[in-house]
Amino acid sequence: MPGPLPFVTLKLATSLDGRIATSSGESRWITGEAARREGHRLRAAHDAVLVGSGTVLADDPELTVRLDTPTPPQPLRIIADGRARTPETARLFATLDLGPVAVATLDAGRRWPEGVSVWRLSPGPEDGALPPQGVLEAAAKAGVSSVLIEGGGVLAGAFLRAGLVGRLEWFRAPILLGARGRPCVGDLHLDALADAPVFVRREVRPIGRDLWETYERDV
Ligand SMILES: NC(=O)c1ccc[n+]([C@@H]2O[C@H](COP(=O)([O-])OP(=O)(O)OC[C@H]3O[C@@H](n4cnc5c(N)ncnc54)[C@H](OP(=O)(O)O)[C@@H]3O)[C@@H](O)[C@H]2O)c1
Repeated sequence: MPGPLPFVTLKLATSLDGRIATSSGESRWITGEAARREGHRLRAAHDAVLVGSGTVLADDPELTVRLDTPTPPQPLRIIADGRARTPETARLFATLDLGPVAVATLDAGRRWPEGVSVWRLSPGPEDGALPPQGVLEAAAKAGVSSVLIEGGGVLAGAFLRAGLVGRLEWFRAPILLGARGRPCVGDLHLDALADAPVFVRREVRPIGRDLWETYERDV
């Protein structure tokens, strides 16, 4: 019998108007140093971190925990990469000595760098995309019980649409990026307000010049 799915936290670092990047894709750094440090603590508190291939292509992130305190075991770094677009030269692959990396993909043919775990999934029945539930099932099989999604908006939208996000950790910077900025949550396919996912606010605290809000899914 399959075990429970990992608990999913979505971390967002946005402008006041909920944008994660400018229209050109620039996102470093929207929030301040203190918020980014908390981001590293959140990483350290989860078994795995997960990003979409769009984020890997735009930012080439390392996704390791970088704190002054002694480093805990690095979380598993998972790329949701249906079309296998992550380049061989990605920093995630260059830092396999620092911590493990897994790729969840629909692609059957590509060769991946040695040491990378490859989770080959079948496309979701509705949109043909990498199925969020399948990614979590594969993570559970790998011993993961908590996942921190670090973006981007398209991937966040897919996991929210599937009802799989249990908590939001939202860092909001006092800037505005306007309608051409990239939204922090992609399409939720919503027409009726009654169908919107609802969260309960648990905590709000100032952090440097930013605001850190925590919400939990209202079930
Ligand atoms: N401010 C922040 O904290 C922050 C954090 C992260 C990113 N960003 C910014 O956000 C931008 C990238 O975000 P993004 O929204 O364009 O990309 P994204 O969400 O990182 O990645 C999108 C890709 O994820 C893949 N994917 C995997 N499973 C999916 C599913 N079920 N449904 C849909 N897509 C799925 C798709 O590629 P395949 O079809 O190949 O699977 C899709 O094209 C960059 O500009 C980056 O700088 C900002």
